[in-house]
Amino acid sequence: MSGDESLLRAESPQRKVIVAIDGPSGAGKSTIARHLARHFGLLNLETGAMYRAFALKALHAGLSLDDSAALADLAAETTIRLEPAERENRVLLDDEDVTGLLRNQTVTDAASRVSVFPAIRAWMVRLQQQLGEAGGVVMEGRDIGTVVFPQAQVKIFLDAAPEVRGLRRYDQIGQTGPTPATPPEEVIRDLRARDERDRNRADSPLKPAPDAVLLDSTNMTLEEAVRAAEAIVASRLRWPVPQQ
Ligand code: DC
Repeated sequence: MSGDESLLRAESPQRKVIVAIDGPSGAGKSTIARHLARHFGLLNLETGAMYRAFALKALHAGLSLDDSAALADLAAETTIRLEPAERENRVLLDDEDVTGLLRNQTVTDAASRVSVFPAIRAWMVRLQQQLGEAGGVVMEGRDIGTVVFPQAQVKIFLDAAPEVRGLRRYDQIGQTGPTPATPPEEVIRDLRARDERDRNRADSPLKPAPDAVLLDSTNMTLEEAVRAAEAIVASRLRWPVPQQ
């Protein structure tokens, strides 16, 4: 943590604040969490990137993604660190920067598969609690408001219709991914399959915490959803919304 960050955590009123952002893929969590962190002077921590980093290691090790015992053994000899950075978190897997290797479809699917296992989740939850315990964070994921920080002062559950989320994802892939682009129907199909797994796993399924504010961005632009999220955080914390 840099000197500025520790000062922010130690001395500002944001000190103990935890803002939990949960929701399915493509609901706009990353963009909204990044904006909120910048806007309110908090650190942004993307927990999905940790599951992705572990999935990358499991793929490289050639493990079966169904072998929970082998995955738990691998976890026992793995370190994952997140470092807040300007756009997205820097992800260090066993001290190696893997940030650029985590967003392809193979890792995306593998992350969803390894994240169903209780031993993997328990390990990740501990790591995430350590990362956020000092407060001053926006933490984004699937189970932040329900399991990782049930005491978070602000919880937002972001959602949108699957077709809308799929098309947003398609637009993102179109900008950064390899050609030829995956057809939109395929992106929506993959997203529905991951939704299904994330919402129906036995351990910590994706669902809103009882005290979460639901924000459905189906009929909003991302800009409108960002403003709505800012207003929720400001009113929950009784802070004025900082001027642009
Ligand atoms: O947010 P993301 O798409 O980067 O997450 C990748 C996968 O990790 C997602 O399919 C579900 C899993 N995940 C989870 O189970 N719990 C979290 N807190 C974050 C992500």
